Order: sequence, then structure tokens, then C-alpha cells
Amino acid sequence: MDLRRTAPRTAPALAVLLVLGLATGCSGGAVDGSPGAAGLRDRYFPKAGNGGYQVDHYGIRLDYTPDTGRLTGTAEITATAEQALSSFHLDFDGMDVDEVEVDGKGARFNRAGQELTVRPSGELVKGRTFRTVVRYSGVPRTVEDPDGSEEGWIETADGAVAVGEPVGSMAWFPGNHHPSDKALYDVEITVPKGYEAVSNGVLKARTERAGRSVFQWHAAEPMASYLATVAIGRYDVRTSPGAAGTGGSAGAAPSAVPVYTAVEPGLVKKSAPALARIPDVVAWGSRRFGPYPFSSVGAIVVPDGTLGYALETQTRPVFSGAPDADLMVHEMAHQWFGNSVSPKSWRDMWLNEGFATYAEWLWAEDRGGLTAEERFDAFYDEDTDVDPEADGSYWDFPPADPPGPEHISDDPVYYRGAMVLHKVRQKVGDKAFFALLRGWAAARRHGNASTADFTAYADRTTGEDLSAIWRVWLEGDGKPDHR
Ligand code: TRP
Ligand code: ZN
Repeated sequence: MDLRRTAPRTAPALAVLLVLGLATGCSGGAVDGSPGAAGLRDRYFPKAGNGGYQVDHYGIRLDYTPDTGRLTGTAEITATAEQALSSFHLDFDGMDVDEVEVDGKGARFNRAGQELTVRPSGELVKGRTFRTVVRYSGVPRTVEDPDGSEEGWIETADGAVAVGEPVGSMAWFPGNHHPSDKALYDVEITVPKGYEAVSNGVLKARTERAGRSVFQWHAAEPMASYLATVAIGRYDVRTSPGAAGTGGSAGAAPSAVPVYTAVEPGLVKKSAPALARIPDVVAWGSRRFGPYPFSSVGAIVVPDGTLGYALETQTRPVFSGAPDADLMVHEMAHQWFGNSVSPKSWRDMWLNEGFATYAEWLWAEDRGGLTAEERFDAFYDEDTDVDPEADGSYWDFPPADPPGPEHISDDPVYYRGAMVLHKVRQKVGDKAFFALLRGWAAARRHGNASTADFTAYADRTTGEDLSAIWRVWLEGDGKPDHR
């Protein structure tokens, strides 16, 4: 397994620290540290993420005033050095950086574009766990993606929402903004009285302080930074004790996942049917894909037109306007595929979108709608009765190889990605196929995976020769000759 996050890190890190500490006389004199890389050379977003360390935990404290749009923030980033570091980078786009500290001591920093370079007062030895505090303020940016969509910090009529796929999270907190570095999060948000503030995970406390409301959110399972969210506004908040289906220990009743929804007041009625489905969808997904991976669930419905899309923000997807049941299924399916099993790089998007799209097909099939086979055939035939937008765009490029960053959310990634899975199902049969989906979700739970990891896993566990499917459907150019 190469799940960086699931390996117990503390003990080996401590051993390395002791050895290096002896060898170098602790972290006093700069000996052989070098600067951490400014990016992880992701093919589509080369500057995203940073080299030389991995983040364990983000503690983010925000204070927001909707009237002025001003945000003040403190990010406490606990990370482990993977090399001796003389300096390291964080990704942070916009706002003003007021102060940076590393392990309680002032650190020098400078900024160039999205790169915030931090030079601690002493070098950081390999294996050391260090804490960086960044204090910042200003009006956060909205980021325009290569494909023209908007992310980052987006103001609404009476608040704001933060969404981060693929690179928007660097607009509201500094960090290692690449999906390959997952971490735990605590997010505390202070807002004027009368406002709600929602984030990922569970609400640990809600208090009043000096006439303002303070919300403390805790994301207890590893999260890629693009899945972090904050929504501030006058939301209608509902909680319920739980959805069945997390799969308790054998024989026990399934444990319950608490549901927390926040909905734009004008959309409560229109959203109700899809929101009421959340427990069913979680229970259904738990049967199809294995235990729901997180300790809470819910949704955030922001005003119509705030975003041009929905996003599967961890535990609590954001919907721009009232969702329908299919969209709810799609975003919930991402909790398994994308959020628990996260892409190693942005090239692997089809592992998110192809799977979430196929989940919609399965949901329909399981409820007596079109079967996945019928839908596959209709998509192959570009039948506009089934996909009114069918125009041959599924065949523009192979799902595992988008031609550029502006194409990572295009049709081939979603629909031809789903068709790849259906081809595998046809070849191996239902029993092996559903075992494959569950096995994959379990094998990479709370980790990362690439396309090559998936194909190798499928080859190995099904014992079938799937090479023609990979070659033609996943990697080949143009429309495959045969269904
Ligand atoms: N990942 C989202 C989904 O399928 C869609 C999405 C998020 C998106 N950000 C985007 C699509 C930017 C296009 C552009 O649920
Ligand atoms: Zn999706």
C-alpha cells in the first residue's frame, strides 16, 4: 500500500528525528537543508502543492464581516518535513499576509503569485513535525478556473461561500494545495450574530463571544484541501441524529451518521425532497460501495446562480440552487470516490467523475429506472432522449488523459469514464464488479490513487484480462468501434 496518510507516521518520524538530531546537533546550524519545491509538477497545475513536507493538520480560524467582505484569518499548519528544509512554500493567492511564525518564532516570508515562501529562523531537519502560523487579512479572491468557472471565495447577497476544485482553496487559507496531501482540519468561524457559519465535518461548539457567533467545526477524517468549504449566511439549519448504513460491527445495528443541512431560506421547500433522500442515499451507497467513510453528512444549498456547478465538499456538498435527487446521488457518491479515495493528481479526475456518474446510473437501475446497460447503449448511440446534450463530445479525448487543465471536468471524464466502468462490469459480471467497487473503496479508503493504481487493482482482483478495455475505452482516442 502506498497510502501516505494511513501509515502510522509518528513513530518512524520520531526515530528519524532522534537520529538526525544527534547527527546534526539538533536544528541549530544550517547544515544541509535546502528549499522545498514550489510545486508538485502536477501536469495540469504544476505550481499546486509544495515539496519537502506533508501537512498533518490545519487549524484555521476565520473572522468574517459580510457587510464589508473582510476576512481575517489565522492558519496553524502542522506538518512533517520530508527533507531537511532551509525554506518551504505554501500556496496562498491574494489577501495580505501579516505575520508568519514557525514553532513560535518569527519567520521571514515573501510572496510571488500564489507562492508564499517561508524561511524559518533555523533549518528544519528531516522527519521533524513543525507548526507554521500564518496571520492574514483582506478581502479574499474569487479565482477563475482555466475552464472559466469560478471558485475560491465567492460572495453571496448576505454572506459568502468557499469552494476549491481544483485550486480555489488557496484563496482563503495558505496550505499545501494539492489533493495528494490530505490532512485533518479544525475550522473556527466567527460571524456577526444572526449568521450561520458552516464547514466540513461535525459542529463541536457554537458559542457567543462579544456579540458575535463562533462556530467550531472538526473534520475528523483526512481531507484534500479542494474539498474544504465554508458557507456564511442566514441559512436555515437542520440537524438530525442519523442515517443508517455506516456498517457497525457484525450483528450490531448500523451506526447512525448525523445529518447537518444548511439551506438558503428561499430554497428550503424546493430542496426538501432531495435533502430528505440523504439518509437513503447514504444507506444505498453503503451497500453498493461499502461503509460510508465519514462521521457526518449533510448539504449546503447556496442561492441559485452562486456557482455554475455543485461540489462534493467533504461530508457536506455545496449545491448552487435546489438539488435534484440525481445530483444528490452524484455528490454523495463522491464521498466514497474522490473524497475518501482521492486522486493522486488532477489527471486522475475520471476516478472521481466517472465513478460518481456511474453511481447515478446504478441508483436509477436499482430503483427500476433505465439499467446501466440501457444507459450505456444510449450514450454510445448519442441518444438525445437519454442525454439531451449528447453531441459526440464524450469522444473528444480519453478519460484518463485530458488535453489540458481547462478540460479536466469535460464530458469524456464524466460519461466516457462511467462507460469504462460499465465495460468492466460487462466483462467480469455483476458479482465481481460490485466486489471490485467495494474492494477499491476499502483498499484506498482515506488515501489517494492514480489511474494506474486502479487498473492494476482491477486486473489483479478480478483475475480477468481487462487490457483491451483500458487500451480502447480508457486510453484510446476517438469513439471506440464497438460497444
Ligand atoms: N466536481 C463537481 C461535480 O462533478 C463539478 C465541478 C466542481 C466543476 N468544480 C468545477 C465542474 C469546475 C466544472 C468546473 O460534482
Ligand atoms: Zn462530480
